[in-house]
Amino acid sequence: MKRILVCVFSETGNTMKVGEAIRDEAAKLDCSVDLKALALFDPSSLGDYDVAFIGSTCHSSSLAQPVLDLLTKLPENKGLQVVGFVTHSTWGPSKDAHRQSLFARWAGNCQPAFETACAEKGVGFLGFFGCMGAPNPGIETFIQNTIMPEAEEWEEYIEEARKHPTDQDLLNARTFTREILEIP
Ligand SMILES: Cc1cc2nc3c(=O)[nH]c(=O)nc-3n(C[C@H](O)[C@H](O)[C@H](O)COP(=O)(O)O)c2cc1C
Repeated sequence: MKRILVCVFSETGNTMKVGEAIRDEAAKLDCSVDLKALALFDPSSLGDYDVAFIGSTCHSSSLAQPVLDLLTKLPENKGLQVVGFVTHSTWGPSKDAHRQSLFARWAGNCQPAFETACAEKGVGFLGFFGCMGAPNPGIETFIQNTIMPEAEEWEEYIEEARKHPTDQDLLNARTFTREILEIP
């Protein structure tokens, strides 16, 4: 039976909702699953798991510092494999060039941060999941003032952003989890 860890850094609950969806889906498979808030997790137990889903809120276009710190503690040569997931308040990857450029600028370093940390430790990286998460009021103000000062764009954005993660996001996280864990 695979031993799965879902370890989440979440300040306002968005990323934890995704972590719970991953936990619920993994629990349906032939796995034992532990869901932990990062603040309550002892990194020395990382080596007890086969697969660690590590979740982070997006800060400054990358992973939050506590998650970057955790990744420096990944055990080498223990057979652990890592899956990354994040919620970010900017649009996800998009065919729209403007939205894609906002994503790249404001959330584009999350997946590479997982990949780099795993490569440095020689730890397998199995995949990455990301979706939007509603910004808190302070970040709303920052986005409106700094990133989207134009009223029409802001109103369309904030009406959508406040809904995330949506039920569809959580379904997508479940599908992603199955795809990752059903690969032998
Ligand atoms: C200090 C701070 C910095 C943030 N920086 C970014 C950012 O650079 N890019 C982005 O897309 N979202 C950014 N966000 C928004 C969060 O990543 C987003 O709302 C996320 O869903 C919050 O997740 P949580 O509820 O799990 O904490 C930032 C939020 C905070 C509080």
